[in-house]
Amino acid sequence: MTNTTIKSVESNKGEFVNKMFANIATKYDLLNNLMTLGMHCKWKESLIKYALTENNCPKIALDLCSGTGDLAILLHKYSPKTKIICIDNCIEMLNIASEKLKNKNISNIEVLNAGCENLNYSDSSIYLITIGFGLRNLQNKEQCIKTSYKSLKENGVFACLDISSPENKLWSKLYKSYFFKVIPQLGALFAKDKEAYTYLPESLLSWYKQSELLDILKKTGFKKSYYKNILGGVAAIHIGIK
Ligand SMILES: C[S@@+](CC[C@H](N)C(=O)[O-])C[C@H]1O[C@@H](n2cnc3c(N)ncnc32)[C@H](O)[C@@H]1O
Repeated sequence: MTNTTIKSVESNKGEFVNKMFANIATKYDLLNNLMTLGMHCKWKESLIKYALTENNCPKIALDLCSGTGDLAILLHKYSPKTKIICIDNCIEMLNIASEKLKNKNISNIEVLNAGCENLNYSDSSIYLITIGFGLRNLQNKEQCIKTSYKSLKENGVFACLDISSPENKLWSKLYKSYFFKVIPQLGALFAKDKEAYTYLPESLLSWYKQSELLDILKKTGFKKSYYKNILGGVAAIHIGIK
């Protein structure tokens, strides 16, 4: 993907990303397992644990960009009384989530096919908002953070997990060559969609570094915010408390 292509993806990101996830939905979980050697499950578990440390029994939670529902299922495991709403604008991804919920006999997780850049829970009714590998894909990331903030109750928790930027130069070099060279090949081989898995590493180029996302959380108004690196910054968890 050239710089010109990245610019055109950015200006038309919503539609491009939606079609891309619709195309790879049935292969998404498999590819996640392959690309991270299964580690994404542990990373997601860490996000839920950090979030529940800040608020141990959230009554209502939203899982934004929920996709195939992993974070919602983990949240349900550790906080079974929480009412969870999975929000995603790609019905093909949500269909997989619904299937998993059915197979696991989970009935108190709702699935909502909607965008998450302009949340409309303005009555500050939400205790926890999670977003895993989602914020990076949005055209209007700051709007999503702002409306999440508005939707949260006082002391409500915003918890974000995403790929990030290793701070060590050698590690960063290795990570980038894995991301830019190996991942598109895995995508071509297993998802039959090299473009989607070329977008993934390219999306890093217009994504925040850990400290930049932290600054946005602070600027939005979160009274306490911090981040934790995973694997030296391959991924990062950001937490904001309203
Ligand atoms: C990389 S997947 C993450 C799925 C899941 N959260 C996980 O951690 O495995 C990103 C998800 O964000 C969804 N998405 C992208 N833009 C969105 C938007 N504007 N509103 C709602 N969902 C969106 C996509 O459809 C996709 O399911």
